[in-house]
Amino acid sequence: MKAIRLHETGGPEKFVVEDIPKPAAAPGEIVVRVRFAALNHRDVFISQGLYPGIALPRTLGSDGAGEVAALGANVAGPPVGTPVVIDPTIGWGNDPEVWSAGATILGMPRDGTFAQYVAVPAENVHAKPAHLTYEAAAAMPLAGLTAYRATFTRGKLKSGESVLITGIGGGVQTFVLLYAKHMGARIAVTSGSDDKLARARALGADVAVNYATSPNWQKEVRSAFGSVDLAIDSAGGDAFAKALGLVRPGGRVVTYGGTSGDATIRMFPLFWNHLSVYGTSMGSPWDFRAMLALFESAGLQPVVDRVCSMDEVVEAARRMNQANQFGKIVLAID
Ligand SMILES: NC(=O)c1ccc[n+]([C@@H]2O[C@H](COP(=O)([O-])OP(=O)(O)OC[C@H]3O[C@@H](n4cnc5c(N)ncnc54)[C@H](OP(=O)(O)O)[C@@H]3O)[C@@H](O)[C@H]2O)c1
Repeated sequence: MKAIRLHETGGPEKFVVEDIPKPAAAPGEIVVRVRFAALNHRDVFISQGLYPGIALPRTLGSDGAGEVAALGANVAGPPVGTPVVIDPTIGWGNDPEVWSAGATILGMPRDGTFAQYVAVPAENVHAKPAHLTYEAAAAMPLAGLTAYRATFTRGKLKSGESVLITGIGGGVQTFVLLYAKHMGARIAVTSGSDDKLARARALGADVAVNYATSPNWQKEVRSAFGSVDLAIDSAGGDAFAKALGLVRPGGRVVTYGGTSGDATIRMFPLFWNHLSVYGTSMGSPWDFRAMLALFESAGLQPVVDRVCSMDEVVEAARRMNQANQFGKIVLAID
């Protein structure tokens, strides 16, 4: 089968397309014929050697949608040919509050979805929402799940609240925007690109500020929007520190990443204002099922930046590394 492989670190240029053997379905597993996959920043970080536990060569890729191709022993279904989408959190465990120490993410350490076939535990395979194309379904799993847990399970967003979303061009943050809009939230976003701010406004953002051209963007957000009930950030660094300062007394901050590094924060407003800071990563099987149900009941559509061929993977990963995308970069696995 064809697969996008990484043999060494050194950046997006190191992804290569090659032929490797098809995986077999071990007991308890399902092999999926992947039709579309999607990039996450994790794939770029791994290619750059900026991720713990890198062991190469490996097929990366956490997001995939396709059809059931084979069932391992002790797996009753779904039948071969069923359209499915894959939950990328492997071995979450039994506690809805936090993943187990042994939990991993599809695409490192085990081979992922940047290949025509992928073997995954049967419990990670779910029916594709009928209203989504394979492209759209492949855009959803890792980013949609992380955003679902950040927004609802950890962030506890309630109808009509106000939300700050930093770096709206990010794959995960565009899902936070979808969910917040669905909840009727008032929404403020930041981005380093005016074009992305305009696209976020078109998707329902009420206030949109450029952090690159307005270093004191938090003051602009405050005067145009006021303080927020909930801030969701993955940029870290200065963005996280400023976002914290925009949260109302008694409000919540959720972080799931640190793209621009660690933050130095002021302690006084944190404790004086009784703020709650929540960390989150990926999502539980319960989060994944709830996310699928939300997509189906609300008819949500992921924001897709572009669909690239397998041969365009280097260019696609470069695009993500340069933060040129808005939403998810999808790969057609032909
Ligand atoms: N913990 C988890 O389970 C989990 C899951 C998914 C992702 N993550 C992490 O979350 C981060 C985003 O992931 P992703 O896949 O959504 O990546 P992505 O699509 O590449 O998004 C990255 C975005 O970060 C924004 N950004 C960068 N520097 C910024 C700054 N100084 N201030 C505000 N925004 C800034 C940019 O937004 P603009 O282009 O709009 O400026 C950029 O588009 C990564 O660090 C990733 O590792 C963690």
